[in-house]
Amino acid sequence: MAERVILEEKSYKTVYREGNSIIKEFTPSHPKSNVFNEAYIHTCVEESGVPVPKIQKVMPADGGWALSMEYIHGKTLQQIMDEDPENLDRHLEKLVDIQLEVSAHRIPKLRNTRYKMEEIINGMHEIDASTKYELLQRIHGMKRHTRLCHGDFVPSNVIIREDGSYCILDWAHATSGNAGADAAITYMRFSLEDPVKAEKYLRIYCRRADMAIQYVQSWMPIVAAVELSRHVEEERELLEKWISVAEYQ
Ligand SMILES: Nc1ncnc2c1ncn2[C@@H]1O[C@H](COP(=O)(O)OP(=O)(O)OP(=O)(O)O)[C@@H](O)[C@H]1O
Ligand SMILES: [Mg+2]
Repeated sequence: MAERVILEEKSYKTVYREGNSIIKEFTPSHPKSNVFNEAYIHTCVEESGVPVPKIQKVMPADGGWALSMEYIHGKTLQQIMDEDPENLDRHLEKLVDIQLEVSAHRIPKLRNTRYKMEEIINGMHEIDASTKYELLQRIHGMKRHTRLCHGDFVPSNVIIREDGSYCILDWAHATSGNAGADAAITYMRFSLEDPVKAEKYLRIYCRRADMAIQYVQSWMPIVAAVELSRHVEEERELLEKWISVAEYQ
């Protein structure tokens, strides 16, 4: 049997490589429906022609459930950026090009981004009723689109093969909706890690997408509230600052 190499360990899952497969093994307390839902979304995207690792199996593992998918040879864009910081702009442009190719796809059977965000925000106890009202109004004011949104489009979720082709990971949060919201999520992720990189990303994205920077920014209170619902303590202060923008407009 092939050796098992652990790539990522989180409280609710372990990601490891075994030969030509990547196994995402979830803890027994992780809902079975979440695992099957991730497999469902991922296979919808796989069938749409977006380059993703092929799902091989959904299987019971150690009292919980696991997904097995094809192992993709290459480097993540995160690794490439870390190894070659001098060419950050070029790598960000690559990230944006790939993101625009994703949002050119439509998979209407995926959950609608706005409904998902509304449901999360409605159920939150971390924000007061007035802020919630403002955020929900803001969502209603957004145009209705049906673009494929990844939901966590960050450099560590993009693998570049040696021949330059790419493959995108982690489809658990994908929805059908506004590309601007997906760009806002990427911008937020960069901002939490490195504000300079975040501003660069936003400028490149908006130029290439021909989208107003203000439009992406108008999604920030919403995507920050959704992120706040995940309760990552280190992120709280910055997220609350973004959410508070909604209260004054
Ligand atoms: N199919 C794959 N082929 C090659 N490497 C992979 C594959 N799936 C995952 N990896 C590697 O493992 C790392 C972690 O995997 P993954 O993105 O699925 O988990 P995660 O980032 O912890 O999930 P999430 O972003 O949902 O919190 C990736 O950044 C990548 O380096
Ligand atoms: Mg990932």
